Amino acid sequence: MSKPETDSTTASGRDPGPAEQAAVRIDEVAVRFRTRKRDVTALREVSLDVPMGEFVAIVGPSGCGKSTLLKMVAGLLKPTTGTVRLNGEKVAGPRHDIGYVFQRAALLEWRSARRNILLQAEMRRMPGEQARRRTAELIEMTGLSGFEDALPHELSGGMQQRVALCRALLHEPPVLLMDEPFGALDALTREQLNIEMNRIWRTTRTTVLLVTHSIPEAVFLANRVVVMSDRPGTIREIIDVDLPAEREYAATLAMPEFASVAGRIRELLGAGAAVE
Ligand SMILES: Nc1ncnc2c1ncn2[C@@H]1O[C@H](COP(=O)(O)OP(=O)(O)OP(=O)(O)O)[C@@H](O)[C@H]1O
Ligand SMILES: [Mg+2]
Repeated sequence: MSKPETDSTTASGRDPGPAEQAAVRIDEVAVRFRTRKRDVTALREVSLDVPMGEFVAIVGPSGCGKSTLLKMVAGLLKPTTGTVRLNGEKVAGPRHDIGYVFQRAALLEWRSARRNILLQAEMRRMPGEQARRRTAELIEMTGLSGFEDALPHELSGGMQQRVALCRALLHEPPVLLMDEPFGALDALTREQLNIEMNRIWRTTRTTVLLVTHSIPEAVFLANRVVVMSDRPGTIREIIDVDLPAEREYAATLAMPEFASVAGRIRELLGAGAAVE
């Protein structure tokens, strides 16, 4: 691990302009990692506005800087140049008002599903009654009912991922960051979680940034798909997905709009770049 270089001259706040209302605003960002062995430019000239309530999927070749981009939005990593804003406010350090779902569920083995979800509340000192009510709602919403008291090893991979999702949503974050959250799941469980994710997003209206290697997942879930280039990662194209918010799985995949967006992404990524 190394810290990216930071150019302090760009750290000053500048006029955010009319897009201040964007939930996430990434402005001319570059990230460069300098280690003793190598010098890697992970991201270059990346600008992206995500309006409140939008679902954006990010696809691109391995190593093009997708995880780096999410970490930057979360404030876990500083851009070398450029700025990131959350709800108009410049991101200057780790943000606690976001939700983050990682590729692997990262649950505490000795805690039950319910208590893994409640961890979020404990860290934030949320009032107990409110946290318990919200946990019950989320358990119901994600189909975990009956497994509240199960330990992580007693849950399937898909259920563990659901617990991680509940935990990320507990404090009702205005922005949810997801880094290949369903990558380790079998195709059918993944499909089912995609359907649930669409419903959860419609219910909560949270802004979502989802990194995925799956083109169908990106098109099924997103309002817009950001296609990135090889490293150094830049945005090659942003494609609008002109489908209704409420999406029935099989019917959506059969729509001409779905095929046309998926085809365009495949074209941009090149043969073999997309794994699913
Ligand atoms: N902390 C770090 N120190 C040095 N280099 C890093 C660091 N984090 C990421 N990189 C480099 O930055 C580049 C982008 O990494 P990143 O993890 O963002 O890629 P990614 O698009 O998420 O890839 P994948 O699809 O495989 O997850 C890679 O070349 C990686 O080696
Ligand atoms: Mg990654």
